[in-house]
Amino acid sequence: MPHFLDLHTTDADALRAILDKARAIKSARDGAPRAAPDSDPALKDRMVALVFEKPSTRTRISFDLGVRQMGGQTMVLSGSELQLGHGETIADTARVLSRFVDLIMIRTFDEAVLHELAEHATVPVINGLTNESHPCQIMADVMTFEEHRGPIAGRKVVWSGDGNNVCASFLHAAGQFGFDLTFTGPEALDPDPKAVAFARDRGSRVEIERDPFVAMRGADLVVTDTWVSMHDSQSTRERRHTLLRAYQVNDALMAAASPEALFMHCLPAHREEEVTNSVMDGPQSVIWDEAENRLHAQKAILRWCLGV
Ligand code: CP
Ligand code: NVA
Repeated sequence: MPHFLDLHTTDADALRAILDKARAIKSARDGAPRAAPDSDPALKDRMVALVFEKPSTRTRISFDLGVRQMGGQTMVLSGSELQLGHGETIADTARVLSRFVDLIMIRTFDEAVLHELAEHATVPVINGLTNESHPCQIMADVMTFEEHRGPIAGRKVVWSGDGNNVCASFLHAAGQFGFDLTFTGPEALDPDPKAVAFARDRGSRVEIERDPFVAMRGADLVVTDTWVSMHDSQSTRERRHTLLRAYQVNDALMAAASPEALFMHCLPAHREEEVTNSVMDGPQSVIWDEAENRLHAQKAILRWCLGV
């Protein structure tokens, strides 16, 4: 079953093919009005369940719109409204949903929930973010980098801040697409060592550098994310802010990167916390392209999962 669960468990050639398709899908629309259908209704007569156990703006809207533009239909379901949130097992939920819909996209907490759902579903499952990963986001990020700067292979990405779920998927992508990644942040918030090991095993240079200004040298892409993720307890907020303050992406830090460096953030951002307004809205920022490319990248992921 072609599930799209994580970047390190999906074949690298398949990931590259998905990005090629995403580019083709985007250019085929060639500025078509937002609501207009795609010329190829690849998801005609298909029903997609979009299950959210956490809030979402981009993932929800881009998947919903993407399915509709490809001629399919969606059901957007919140975890608390389903029996899943009231004691029905994940396995039983997977079996039942598989009788009704052609594909399940889920945003959940524990990555184990995603894997259990995929194990018992008889339709493809897509990971729309877990506490540990966010693969759809990074497909859009790689697409965005390559649109602006050409192949990402051999380039240097610097992640500044919390070594969180999005950072882990960036490390997986480093291994799969052949780029280097330097993490700069406090030791207490280092990235998942398994993700670091995956990237290194695949030949990427992964460095952990505590000094953010040293880390930035030669950076082609600077990335950050919120200091308090949806799965983090609000009680850790103050401690996290204290630990992460030195890693704010601001003009001084961007000046230490390559002059050609791009800035990305998966959003939602907390302006003037992990990144300043001047960087978010500055000339190196490609955050709105990054957000838009969720749509195109995910359409290609949906098509790959469904073989259409
Ligand atoms: N980047 C991202 O996944 O955004 P949402 O939480 O709004 O879906
Ligand atoms: N790290 C963030 C990403 C949100 C898209 C979170 O998990 O809340």
